[in-house]
Amino acid sequence: MLDLFSPLEPGVRRDGLVAYRQFLAQRDGEVDVESRTLARREQGMQRFMRPLPRVREMDRELFRAQYENFDRKKKTPPEMLLLIGLVKVNAAETYGVSQSFDKVYRRAIESEDDLELVLLIEETYHTRILLSSAILYGIDVASPYRPHAGLRALIGGINHAPDFISRPLVLAGEILGTLSFIHLLHKAREILGHDPELCDAVEERVSEILVDEIGHVSFNRMCLGAAGLAETRLLLPAVVMGLSSAVPELGMLGALAAGVSDELALLNTERRLPEHVRKAAFIA
Ligand SMILES: [Fe+2]
Ligand SMILES: [Fe+2]
Repeated sequence: MLDLFSPLEPGVRRDGLVAYRQFLAQRDGEVDVESRTLARREQGMQRFMRPLPRVREMDRELFRAQYENFDRKKKTPPEMLLLIGLVKVNAAETYGVSQSFDKVYRRAIESEDDLELVLLIEETYHTRILLSSAILYGIDVASPYRPHAGLRALIGGINHAPDFISRPLVLAGEILGTLSFIHLLHKAREILGHDPELCDAVEERVSEILVDEIGHVSFNRMCLGAAGLAETRLLLPAVVMGLSSAVPELGMLGALAAGVSDELALLNTERRLPEHVRKAAFIA
């Protein structure tokens, strides 16, 4: 099994970053920093914005109410819980990207290296792709969910922290994100199994994001040495707690990494990580 926390040799890290840059150029196409777009991904978005030939039924009023302010006492069908999970799972990351974009942008100009900026732009596609799941039900979710004040403060703090603190936290966040998307993929198969067309549409979205997230884990891992990776391992449980408080719906759905260390094995077991995702992803 790949041990995410075992350090890589400096030479391997350097070569890996070069290879990852090439991988992203292929996958994303031309980068437009001003408009925060990636040419290939922009084309790809078109298929996610198209509804299926038949719009699926959902109690839209209940969806709205539960999306805005989730009430555990209200009976919520699994399919609705899944959709809420999909449109909210990225809330913390989206907020983090909005907070750190300027800092990463300045750093990209100073170092003449836009690799991390491209990662942040990829994140904006994740938000769009996830929100587009609601289109399948004829629901318009125009803007990403805003995490609660405590989590916003935490994210703001991470953003202002020096790199040796913020990088392990970012890696922990990327690992947790990856695990959550693996769970969501399996939940989607379980809950939507009766409707293969719908299930495929959701799976396609989650797979697309999963491929990116595995790359993000790889990138941040290549940026860290032994001390940073050890720190990441220590921080991971706290990051899991943070996300569970941000999106309790994920916990209810069973789509949250619970026992973190056991869960890490998921990243490498054939059964949990679909072949097409593993083939398409950049794994370091
Ligand atoms: Fe993401
Ligand atoms: Fe990410």
